[in-house]
Amino acid sequence: MKIVITAGPTREKIDPVRYISNNSSGRMGYALATAALDLGHDVTLISGPVAIPVPEKANLIKVVSAAEMAQAVRDHAPDADIVIMCAAVADYRPAHPWDSKLKKMPGKLVLELERTEDILGTLGKNKRPGQMLIGFAAETDDLEANALGKLERKNLDWIAANLVSDGFGTDTNRITLYHRDGKKIPLPSGDKLSVARSMLHEVLP
Ligand code: CTP
Repeated sequence: MKIVITAGPTREKIDPVRYISNNSSGRMGYALATAALDLGHDVTLISGPVAIPVPEKANLIKVVSAAEMAQAVRDHAPDADIVIMCAAVADYRPAHPWDSKLKKMPGKLVLELERTEDILGTLGKNKRPGQMLIGFAAETDDLEANALGKLERKNLDWIAANLVSDGFGTDTNRITLYHRDGKKIPLPSGDKLSVARSMLHEVLP
């Protein structure tokens, strides 16, 4: 099968030397890519800026911003059997990034932010019959309710939910999978590769 996996954070430019980003390490997405390759699948890995080794045999596409990630997904998702959006995509970006390095001034600086595209939401709206869409929900509060809300709003088949304290920027993860038909599957927690293997074992047809 052709599997598209997104991983890592995005960076949203403030000026030529500054950006808004988050603590995603990319390790969960890269572990999913490794696990899928080991099962013999064709893997396209669309990755934000990370500092970890690239799984051999993955078709790696490097991106920086949410807009670049959205374009890469538009290019590769249409003929994918499965899309797994594991990336921690920025929801907002500076509305007016500076072309020159910003100089400090007296008083406060107000940064105006605008929404980025909801990449997974767009995929959900244009889902091909037979295509499987899997999202991630990393939450600090109300994990199950937030995850189920995203599963429904984004028209997903599965959502992988984890608490930020259990899996965001860490070496290990603890994930619960929710399926659109109501099934709930807590996966054994462990290192990200073992969690990725259990996750694929549950979701692959
Ligand atoms: N995602 C995406 N595009 C974005 C933001 C998130 O495709 N601009 C994807 C992530 O890769 C992940 C899921 O959507 O699979 C997480 O959704 P999130 O943004 O957290 O959900 P929202 O419904 O926007 O809820 P909220 O921001 O209120 O938590």
